Amino acid sequence: MADIASLQSEILATVAGAADEAALEAVRVATLGKKGSVSALLATMGSLSPDERKFQGPKFNGLRDAVTEAITARKVRLADAALDARLASETLDVTLPSRFENSGTVHPISQVLEEVVAIFAELGFGVAEGPDVEFDDYNFTRLNIPPDHPARQMQDTFYVAAQADGDSHVLRTHTSPVQVRTMLNAKPPIRVISPGRTYRVDSDATHSPMFHQVEALVVDEGIHLGHLKWTVEQFCKAFFEIDQIELRARPSFFPFTEPSLEWDMRCDRRTPGKITFGTGNDWLELGGSGMVHRKVLENCGIDPTKYQGFAFGFGLDRMAMLKYGMPDIRSFFESDLRWLKHYGFQPLDIPTLDGGLSR
Ligand code: DAH
Repeated sequence: MADIASLQSEILATVAGAADEAALEAVRVATLGKKGSVSALLATMGSLSPDERKFQGPKFNGLRDAVTEAITARKVRLADAALDARLASETLDVTLPSRFENSGTVHPISQVLEEVVAIFAELGFGVAEGPDVEFDDYNFTRLNIPPDHPARQMQDTFYVAAQADGDSHVLRTHTSPVQVRTMLNAKPPIRVISPGRTYRVDSDATHSPMFHQVEALVVDEGIHLGHLKWTVEQFCKAFFEIDQIELRARPSFFPFTEPSLEWDMRCDRRTPGKITFGTGNDWLELGGSGMVHRKVLENCGIDPTKYQGFAFGFGLDRMAMLKYGMPDIRSFFESDLRWLKHYGFQPLDIPTLDGGLSR
């Protein structure tokens, strides 16, 4: 009969010496495996006399348990050590500066969006959001554009297939439905802007089927056109980063405002590819605005005899194109890396009014 104690210490030494998980597995197979030394020993039990078995059995089993336990413990140690080694080799110092030439850039639309938010935050406006797939009711009906109203044809709408909830949906054609969402959920005074994606069936050098607008909405007691004009002026001065601007308001029509105005800004476009603001004989269209129609206030649960509001909706892509001299709106959404490198902004230059909007 083999000397079990010395066999055990021999095996345990091999286990302790196994340098990695593969070596340990080899030891396991050589001992506890089907043809392993420990298994072979256990197999001899059947041929022992009952007395011998009583005497040797516990020793054999003790050997098996000791070896199993040693292998399990070693396995955990080796796995820990392997993980430690991997973690050490994969150390990443997140405080190191990024490599300039490899860093991505902020898309001009994101940049302009952040600039607009920074300007309005300074004026005390919050930011409101709404979904791209909007209720027909919010996109049109509550904005005083009932079904079958000819004004629906002003906007080439993408209709969305009927949904399970039975409501009809559209891809929002403007950010104005966020006005509805805001008024349904908040009591005046309200001061919000809502920048975001909008959709219309349209595509050429200055139109993309997906484009961006920024909506502004103010509702309070005693709000009048003077507030609207002042806000548009402050916004344009801050956004185009010039003190001398000249705005022109043209009478217009939108079902959700009364009266309705469109704003233009004086500029000089005589030199091709160049635009100067504040002087010249050209006018640049900014977008629509007006005093919120009393029916819209009523549709959104606000008492029009007590509260008045103004709103405007400007095209963000157009504003980005003008401010940063990008001629074709379609290139905005082509994901051409060369274009992004050229027109993109540095990721850590957060636009603020104090620090500069666009350095
Ligand atoms: N929603 C209009 C459009 O996309 C723009 C607009 C006009 C928004 C007047 C307004 C507004 O808030 O008062 O054509």
